[in-house]
Amino acid sequence: MANKYEMFSVQVTAVEQATPLIKRFTLAREDGAPMPAFTGGSHVIVQMQGADGRQFSNAYSLMSDPRDTRSYQIGVRLEEQSKGGSAFMHQQVEVGSVLTISSPNNLFALDPSAGRHVLIAGGIGITPFLAQLHELEAGSTAYELHYAFRSPEHGAFQAELSSGPHAANTQFYIDSLERKLDLAALFAGLDDAAHVYVCGPKPLIDAVIATAASLGIAEQRVHWEQFAAAPVTGAAFTVVLARSGQELQVEEGMTILQAIEKSKAAKVECLCREGVCGTCETMILEGEAEHFDQYLSDEEKASQQSMMLCVSRARTARLVLDL
Ligand code: FES
Repeated sequence: MANKYEMFSVQVTAVEQATPLIKRFTLAREDGAPMPAFTGGSHVIVQMQGADGRQFSNAYSLMSDPRDTRSYQIGVRLEEQSKGGSAFMHQQVEVGSVLTISSPNNLFALDPSAGRHVLIAGGIGITPFLAQLHELEAGSTAYELHYAFRSPEHGAFQAELSSGPHAANTQFYIDSLERKLDLAALFAGLDDAAHVYVCGPKPLIDAVIATAASLGIAEQRVHWEQFAAAPVTGAAFTVVLARSGQELQVEEGMTILQAIEKSKAAKVECLCREGVCGTCETMILEGEAEHFDQYLSDEEKASQQSMMLCVSRARTARLVLDL
């Protein structure tokens, strides 16, 4: 699949330590030209080049006001299980650093048919909602933000949320103070027009999806996004590259993309390596994929026509790919 992203270089114009683990970076073009327009919920892929030649590539939600295209802002959490990208951003990137980023893409937009938007953030998952809050402020649809974090010092951007125009619509939940988010109680009061959006750690996303399902909230009314998921593992399987007939064994802790790269059996384009950008999409000729990406829609996943080689695995012992 052709790369549909435009890549361009930006300079870091500000860095702010928002919490002990989260930094906010402001990015602008060096010539001051406007950045590409975006809508709330969009992300960009940031490519980083280490001094030792290592390359990292991570997706980050845009958190700044979509109406202001002079710059973008992203929030980066220093991840313990980092593939290297978040550590690079925290340790190597400073004001004046130049980064390559992609044009924005939105896989987590507000649904215009919703009668109410219920936003649920866990930790760094607050970032796409910060951009969406600007849109919600300008619109007329009711909304509420529920923001959970582990202790007061880890709640990034609390001050701007509690003093700005969204204060009346925002609730904070703080684990260390035993102020917990009760999803069942929250969802029980929702009417049929409300849509739920969740971004944050996997356990929170899983809990939202499960609670919503148990209360009969239609899947189409539940939206989620998570970047930098823990690496997906599963049983080993065989991949056949149809064009060359080569067979590869994809071991338990390995991705199809890694197996192909290791064997140099084919060239696969890949930008994000976390199931977000769509560049490694490959047609499935035989077998079924276990999809772990966020790029394909539920219908596309069910059709089993294509898959993302960077994260998805096989549901069958053998998978034949159009490569
Ligand atoms: S490289 Fe981005 S989805 Fe696979």
